[in-house]
Amino acid sequence: MDPRKNPCASGAGTKPPALVGRGKQIESFDILLERLENGYVEQSMIVTGLRGVGKTVLLDVFREKAEARDWATVEWEVEKNAAFAPKIAAHVRRALLQIAPKARWADRVLRAASILKSFTVTFNPDGP
Ligand SMILES: Nc1ncnc2c1ncn2[C@@H]1O[C@H](COP(=O)(O)OP(=O)(O)O)[C@@H](O)[C@H]1O
Ligand SMILES: [Mg+2]
Repeated sequence: MDPRKNPCASGAGTKPPALVGRGKQIESFDILLERLENGYVEQSMIVTGLRGVGKTVLLDVFREKAEARDWATVEWEVEKNAAFAPKIAAHVRRALLQIAPKARWADRVLRAASILKSFTVTFNPDGP
């Protein structure tokens, strides 16, 4: 095949020319977003599998879909030996800022941000 025309572009995290066989997962994610937008509770989705099965590429699609619907997204590589709680609190706080600039924070957002801040302080073994 002419290498100039070969659609295959394999590599970790590279977007494939066609995302094959992921219709069900993408539909589940759409349903999850829509339920949350309507105020319903829904279980979160976790994508697991061996290296190379397509986790990164699928998460990229999920991110694009969420951002297209005005959700703030957070990308973060969890490390085995780093404290989880303060990190996630900091990321969620940053996502809040992404949604609404601080100057325009309404009371409810301010309350959420201060709770997240105290969460970080409480759980950070090195202090605030
Ligand atoms: N649904 C899919 N259809 C076609 N190619 C895919 C699909 N999912 C992933 N790939 C390809 O497989 C390779 C590995 O995908 P990647 O998301 O990096 O896997 P993982 O994160 O699970 O290790 C990439 O080259 C990607 O383009
Ligand atoms: Mg990956």
